Amino acid sequence: MPEETLTITDNRTSKTYTVPLFKGCIRTMDLRQIKVNDDDFGVMGYDPAFMNTASCQSAITFIDGDKGILRYRGYPIEQLAEQCTYLEVAYLILNGELPTESQLKDFVKEVTYHTMVHENVKKFMDGFHYDAHPMGMLMSTMAALATFYPEARKIGDPASRRLQILRLLGKMPTIAAYAYRHSLGLPYVDPNNSLSYTENFMSMLWKMPAEPVYKPNPVLARALDVLFILHADHEQNCSTNAMRSVGSSQADPFASTAAAIGALWGPLHGGANEQVLVMLDEIGKMENIPAFIADVKAGKGKLMGFGHRVYKNYDPRAKIIKRTAEEVFQVTGRNPKLDIAMELEKIALSDEYFIKRKLYPNVDFYSGIIYQALGFTPDIFTVLFAIGRNVGWLAQWQELLGDKEQKIARPRQIYTGYDQRDVVPLNKRGK
Ligand code: SDX
Repeated sequence: MPEETLTITDNRTSKTYTVPLFKGCIRTMDLRQIKVNDDDFGVMGYDPAFMNTASCQSAITFIDGDKGILRYRGYPIEQLAEQCTYLEVAYLILNGELPTESQLKDFVKEVTYHTMVHENVKKFMDGFHYDAHPMGMLMSTMAALATFYPEARKIGDPASRRLQILRLLGKMPTIAAYAYRHSLGLPYVDPNNSLSYTENFMSMLWKMPAEPVYKPNPVLARALDVLFILHADHEQNCSTNAMRSVGSSQADPFASTAAAIGALWGPLHGGANEQVLVMLDEIGKMENIPAFIADVKAGKGKLMGFGHRVYKNYDPRAKIIKRTAEEVFQVTGRNPKLDIAMELEKIALSDEYFIKRKLYPNVDFYSGIIYQALGFTPDIFTVLFAIGRNVGWLAQWQELLGDKEQKIARPRQIYTGYDQRDVVPLNKRGK
């Protein structure tokens, strides 16, 4: 077996260097020895948007983009979505193993215990404008929680880390529901600890004060739970990178989670699910699809919910979501937008433009259609993505803090600005 090294010849100096391969990668710090003279900084890697850069080692999620494989801690997403609940998967992602019955019971109890928020959080949320975007409300309120739990800054204390993780898992659905209720001018509904994680979220969203009891539909509650599972983690996506980058400065987990929510909000990332519905509404009807596709191919916009940095095959989550949609429509009635979405997919997948670029439906293409059928308005879709991804961000943050190789994230740059120049006095500028 040939030695796991690369031999690099610097043609500027004719020197050769042997660089070890580490798990199929080179450590770019090993390039710094390649210099033309002693004053030379040495060779750096240049990789805008990290197209080909591993920022960490992680044991949480495995994706094979070519084969459309997604596993959490080694378990295929299809089996987890079929056989587990979201909190069961959250336990797996955080702890590395599926829980026993008693471990799951204790974990559910601990998360449930942390679903309430301080009354002042409600006052804080009351301050938002009536039409504030729920993602803006979620991001700022999660950051505000850092001021309620100053001990969260003890990120080196495992017991404190675990307590904050339980608080974040318990409180995010509550804050998300309060953001939704605020936008409708409805009173907040306190958590009901007799309900499951997802049923409790639905109760805080939809229980009406005049109605004594709220009974979530079990089929819809299960569908939402599956959607949370599908969104739980996805290795080093943009928002997880934000969580790790902010967490690497030893900021508290509430501030790091707020940063991750901000990254997720972007339309190229988690914000795509909301934009898919905007796109389907713009298309309106089947006969408009060919013209829309022609516009996309002419560079006049993107087919939202299509394409992925890693998946160059069908996103396995999209397949499960499509199946789950049918179960939801048995209860809610069919969302006509599904027909447009499926026709759009059919046309796109047979068009050379999309085939050549390996553009397939991703997790966001169908999720919005289910969310809408479940009764959500598009502006809260990405909040639902955040609730699912919350545990992934926290597990990745926890893994970062336990990784001896990790330090504060501080990339280098290639400077392209002016060389030194002198300040011209104000009264002489522009003359
Ligand atoms: C998520 O990273 C993750 O894991 C993310 C996620 C997770 O779980 O965390 O999976 C969740 O964010 C899913 C992605 C949701 N975003 C969208 O659906 C928005 C639409 N998709 C694109 O913007 C795009 O596909 C990205 C952002 C998802 C990926 O972009 P890349 O990898 O940077 O690829 P690119 O933009 O360089 O595109 C390569 C080519 C370009 O064409 P050319 O310049 O080569 O001619 O494909 C084209 C792009 O124009 N292209 C699209 C397209 N996506 C890429 N053309 C039309 N429609 C699209 N959707």
